[in-house]
Amino acid sequence: MSYSLQAGAFILAGLLFILALAGLSKHESSKRGNILGSVGMGVALVVTVLATQLGVESGGDEVAGGLPGWGLAAILAPMLVGAGIGVFRALRVEMTGMPELIALFHSFVGLAAVLVGWVSYLEGAPEVNAGLHYGELFIGVFIGAVTFTGSIIAYLKLSAKMKSAPLALPHHNLINLAAIVAFVGLTVWFVILPDADHVGAGGTLGLVLLSAMTLIALLLGLHLVAAIGGGDMPVVVSMLNSYSGWAAAAAGFTLNNDLLIITGALVGSSGAYLSYIMCKAMNRSFISVIMGGFGSDGAVVGEAKDYGEHRETNAADVADLLVNSSSVVIAPGYGMAVAQAQGAVADLTSKLRAKGVDVRFAIHPVAGRLPGHMNVLLAEAKVPYDIVFEMDEINDDFPEVDVVLVIGANDTVNPAALDDPSSPIAGMPVLHVWEAGQVVVFKRSMATGYAGVQNPLFFNDNSAMLFGDAKTRVEDIVHALQ
Ligand code: TAP
Repeated sequence: MSYSLQAGAFILAGLLFILALAGLSKHESSKRGNILGSVGMGVALVVTVLATQLGVESGGDEVAGGLPGWGLAAILAPMLVGAGIGVFRALRVEMTGMPELIALFHSFVGLAAVLVGWVSYLEGAPEVNAGLHYGELFIGVFIGAVTFTGSIIAYLKLSAKMKSAPLALPHHNLINLAAIVAFVGLTVWFVILPDADHVGAGGTLGLVLLSAMTLIALLLGLHLVAAIGGGDMPVVVSMLNSYSGWAAAAAGFTLNNDLLIITGALVGSSGAYLSYIMCKAMNRSFISVIMGGFGSDGAVVGEAKDYGEHRETNAADVADLLVNSSSVVIAPGYGMAVAQAQGAVADLTSKLRAKGVDVRFAIHPVAGRLPGHMNVLLAEAKVPYDIVFEMDEINDDFPEVDVVLVIGANDTVNPAALDDPSSPIAGMPVLHVWEAGQVVVFKRSMATGYAGVQNPLFFNDNSAMLFGDAKTRVEDIVHALQ
């Protein structure tokens, strides 16, 4: 295969990956984005396999030899098995099981980077730039090993196969720091090691250093993620996604594969950006997530304040309120996902729209527990995209809205984030639902949400609580409307 054909195919695949990321940024174009990404990966795989089979010629020189016939079988057989397992799992996974599946996939990317680095070391260094090669390889194995064990712990926590509470070893941040310092020291030592000490020249010290670092990195991945609570796992999964991208880019340098470098960098930077968006929307620093220790199971954080009495309502009164309104906004949150109320909410929406009520949805960027959690549920329930608005698009409209239905949301509609500088969520941007004429809050009790802080919204004069499971209550309203 000619080098220019391979380079052209790699550029095409790289472009398709960039278009895929652009498509995935909006729900209207996300399906197209997915297809473009899959086509790009198909092109990359076919060209890479052909190149290993036929060899690549550059200016008439064979720069990579072809593999014997059994070599193709050795590549295709595991690919087919892997693809089969991937299709089987993807067809079965529940929407709510997506983060754990993604975490498991990241662990494979990390493991692949470790294996590529190790094999490349055992094969010996190139004659030119050996130091650079050793540096890339060492860093690639480190990132890959941290990603591998970290992702396995994230998978175990998300799938409830392991306790999700943070494992708080004494001085755990110091332990992490010591591991990083040891890694930096070992990297410098490995790179400046005389050639004779490397495995290619029959030496053993290089192998000892690489083994020691791999062990430290595997333990660091375990410890780093075990110390983070289950609720922060989505940010951690996105961070591990970023690491897996950098691990792949490092493997690309080791293998001299431009496409792997491009793809790894795209995954690495988009994962880092997603972690940044999530942290910003939660008003938390990335460092505080890594340090662990936020999120609760309903216990009130800090001083419990007395906000007065709350008012209760019932489904029949809410149905009355809704049919006499002209503008309704629904603010869904984690409770809608727990209750699996999205189908009933979609039903209520179409009933109200049929009666001439303008219904829109207001989506907070971290409503629920995963990026895009609410969007996915609403899309699943076939709520039209054009009535679903992001927080920034709808926040100024609340004063003109007659009724807001807060369905299983809590922290994301908490005015204390704006009014109370002592609140743990102070500074977090929230939906200004209290500015609407009436607010109906669907939840089962007066318990707190994820951040463990009470919500003064529930005690406002224009708020009423509709207690019970969100799905049952929404169905009651639909029933009352008939
Ligand atoms: P939360 O603040 O978590 O509140 C959810 C509410 O739903 C609870 O107060 C709960 O009250 C209610 N609920 C639970 N089950 C219910 C059911 N079956 N029926 C009716 N209500 C039910 O929700 P939110 O407003 O979506 O905020 C999300 C929180 O998660 C934020 O603090 C965010 O920072 C955090 N977080 C988000 C992400 C991402 S990426 N989305 C990642 C990590 C953390 P009851 O118990 O009284 O019913």
